[in-house]
Amino acid sequence: TRKPVIPFEEIGEKRLHELIERFYDKVAVHPDLIPIFPEDLTETIRKQKQFQTQYLGGPNLYTEEHGHPMMKARHMPFPITPTRAKAWLACMEEAMDEVGLEGPLRNVYYQRLVLTANHMVNRNEEED
Ligand code: HEM
Repeated sequence: TRKPVIPFEEIGEKRLHELIERFYDKVAVHPDLIPIFPEDLTETIRKQKQFQTQYLGGPNLYTEEHGHPMMKARHMPFPITPTRAKAWLACMEEAMDEVGLEGPLRNVYYQRLVLTANHMVNRNEEED
């Protein structure tokens, strides 16, 4: 019997928090993303840290404070086009590079984010 591998534990809380901070530094200056994000990202960052912790198998911090994630529904007020999904993922890839997240863990995590990001798309480019 092998000990189950929990991505949250492999990455570590400190590096996960750093990843998310780097990620929003990029979101904040990305021309495709600026228009839909709040100017002050403090609360967004706090919630994303909670969410990614549980997304990666750590404690359910997001749900404890905000209830069921329902991420697609929570994103519906924001026009998320395929271009914005690509931009979001590009910011995440750069942030992963910067915190030195590499190897199978990075690949599994990133591929999962690709699926979730594509699932968030709720507008065509023309509807934006
Ligand atoms: C919130 C955009 C993908 C998780 C938000 C907000 C925007 C946004 C504009 C609101 C920020 C605020 O008002 O504080 C996008 C775009 C995406 C994307 C353009 C591209 C596909 C994702 C993905 C995840 C995610 C893939 C999770 C893996 C969250 C969380 C919140 C959030 C946890 C906070 C929800 C809350 O207010 O409780 N996103 N998002 N997003 N997003 Fe995304």
